[in-house]
Amino acid sequence: MSSDTSAERVLGTTGVARREVGSRESVAANIAWWDADSDDYHRRHGDFLGVSDFMWCPESLREEDARLLGDVSGRDVLEIGCGSAPCARWLTEQGARVVGLDLSGGMLRYAAAANTATDTHPALVRANAERLPFASESFDIACSAFGAVPFVADVGAVFREVARVLRPGGTWTFAVNHPMRWMFPDDPGPDGLVVTGSYFDRTPYVEVDDDGTPTYVEHHRTLGDYVRALHEAGLTLFDLIEPEWPEGHTREWGQWSPLRGERFPGTAIFRCHR
Ligand SMILES: C[S@@+](CC[C@H](N)C(=O)[O-])C[C@H]1O[C@@H](n2cnc3c(N)ncnc32)[C@H](O)[C@@H]1O
Repeated sequence: MSSDTSAERVLGTTGVARREVGSRESVAANIAWWDADSDDYHRRHGDFLGVSDFMWCPESLREEDARLLGDVSGRDVLEIGCGSAPCARWLTEQGARVVGLDLSGGMLRYAAAANTATDTHPALVRANAERLPFASESFDIACSAFGAVPFVADVGAVFREVARVLRPGGTWTFAVNHPMRWMFPDDPGPDGLVVTGSYFDRTPYVEVDDDGTPTYVEHHRTLGDYVRALHEAGLTLFDLIEPEWPEGHTREWGQWSPLRGERFPGTAIFRCHR
């Protein structure tokens, strides 16, 4: 979930409250968190993510090798929760017309600086993924690498919006924490191998300040919840990828580690079409 950082100090995080939290509170907490964490996030993970590279997950699966999006050249592509937009820039270099969308001005400032530095210019839009500011049937492809989906209260709204802005036959591919990770502590070491919670407990993980105001929010859905929400949005799921930990890959990312990676999946990548 979140990791120990100056963002916690800046936001005055003092504890964890497992409780229901709706869209308004989730959005406010996510803006605050990702704005405050953007420096640390890029210090910790910037070299792994690259400036112009499409990394799907901490298991180091690259779009360049996996080709989950197919040929993107000449296509209209929306990246949701783009952060500093390395994926959006990589897609632009492949000949796609790309929009990178994110809720956080702090993350998008990194994106704008990297666009300038690389002279590669996917459009950048600040918005909430639950209400996409685009006309219907504007995109051929929508994608997301851990952007927005784990953090929104209403994942059905995101999926319905994605279905609305996709053209018929368009695809939606998104990576999230594998739902089975929810029952383990957020720990890359041996303690992270011990089940301490219920897979079925959908109560959000919420960090709070002294007043109980959320400073970080993460929502949980089971695999079945995702499948139903996609179906209800009119999307057809045709593949679910659970990347295995590659041999020789030693880099940890938060709770992702070789120790856990060799035993159970950390990431789920859903592939759907409209
Ligand atoms: C874990 S980061 C991933 C960023 C990028 N995809 C990457 O791989 O580095 C999650 C991103 O989702 C964004 N985000 C969170 N909630 C969102 C929402 N409701 N709408 C749009 N973006 C959101 C955050 O601002 C953050 O940039």
